[in-house]
Amino acid sequence: MNLAARISRISVSKTMAVMEAAIKLRDQGIDVVDFGPGEPDFPTPENVKQAAMRAIQENFTKYTAIGGIKELKKAIVEKHARDFGSKYDISECVVNLGGKHALFNIFSAVVEEGDDVIIPTPYWVTFGDIARFVNANPIFVDTKESDGFQLTSDILERSLTPRTRMVVVNSPNNPSGAVLEDAEFDRIAELCRKKDVLLLSDECYSHFLYDGRKPFSIASRTDLKRHIIIAGSVSKTYAMTGWRIGYVLAQPEIIGAVVKLQSHSTSNPTSISQRAALEALTGQQESVGVMLAEYARRRKFVLDRLRAIPGVKCAEPGGAFYAYPNISAAFGRGGIQNSVDFSARLLDKAHVAVTPGKAFGTTDHVRLSYATSMEQLDKGLKRMHEFMVSL
Ligand SMILES: Cc1ncc(COP(=O)(O)O)c(C=O)c1O
Repeated sequence: MNLAARISRISVSKTMAVMEAAIKLRDQGIDVVDFGPGEPDFPTPENVKQAAMRAIQENFTKYTAIGGIKELKKAIVEKHARDFGSKYDISECVVNLGGKHALFNIFSAVVEEGDDVIIPTPYWVTFGDIARFVNANPIFVDTKESDGFQLTSDILERSLTPRTRMVVVNSPNNPSGAVLEDAEFDRIAELCRKKDVLLLSDECYSHFLYDGRKPFSIASRTDLKRHIIIAGSVSKTYAMTGWRIGYVLAQPEIIGAVVKLQSHSTSNPTSISQRAALEALTGQQESVGVMLAEYARRRKFVLDRLRAIPGVKCAEPGGAFYAYPNISAAFGRGGIQNSVDFSARLLDKAHVAVTPGKAFGTTDHVRLSYATSMEQLDKGLKRMHEFMVSL
């Protein structure tokens, strides 16, 4: 079977492999602690569920406008303006089927074959594969662990090529939890304007920030709007991963292109999910604070426990719900040569699932999601500590 070249350029998400191995062990009745999943362990807030049920009862179950209902687009731009000081009209907003779909459609709309797309390492796996799918060149740019995995305008300037079309920034970051300093983000955006390069900001984790840090969006730089594209999602903020609602904020030409693509592919995002997202954005916000407080408690617990493991170092994650410890002290011991070996042995011997850093473009790390209960965190970290000591 000759498959199309575009599909052969991409691979199944590497984060899936760990999940599959963990499921296999579970099926054998083994008690596996799973630090793999990148999704909130909280239920969708009650008011959101009620809004969806009302939508069904009111027969709001038909096609809607392809780019999303007007009320939802209005809610998105107004909330973004309140939270971050951005200034978008509803003609600069389109609703998609999740943040991933938003990213896919942005790449499809603005990146040409042969263009370079700059992606800082460590990166979320999907960015590189979408770039490859549209036949662009993902240019992975290293950041320093000692600087907390921060992309800087200096690093970016050195990485730009005449073919650079877009720079992708994801802050707070999956997998490292790194949060760009606001001033550095500004400098990066200034540089993008100067070089006439698009800046795609993935704000999927924008509301999960710790130590009292205020949410920031580069869209607050309304003077740089022409060069900025925002990809957002309700998935993580409102524990709505299954509902599939994301959005793009960008200049109207880009929005029009995304709507055109959706008109021949997905059509509108699910009508019921749109009503649910509308309630999430306009209704009570207490649940977001409750989740954030719990993530903050877990983050401290995880960091303290990881740093107590001999040989393990861990940069402080400023946001999201991931820790990205350096486990290279285990290399050369017990037959472990790299983070893939480490993850496989940890799962096999200690029944703890983590995602190898290789999936995110670094050699010395593994990713742990702390979107899981304190009991699981306690059990899994105890096992990981004993495993390291046993090597
Ligand atoms: C960095 C990043 N961006 C975007 C997404 C997409 O989320 P969704 O498609 O559920 O909105 C994820 C999900 O894990 C993510 O980690």
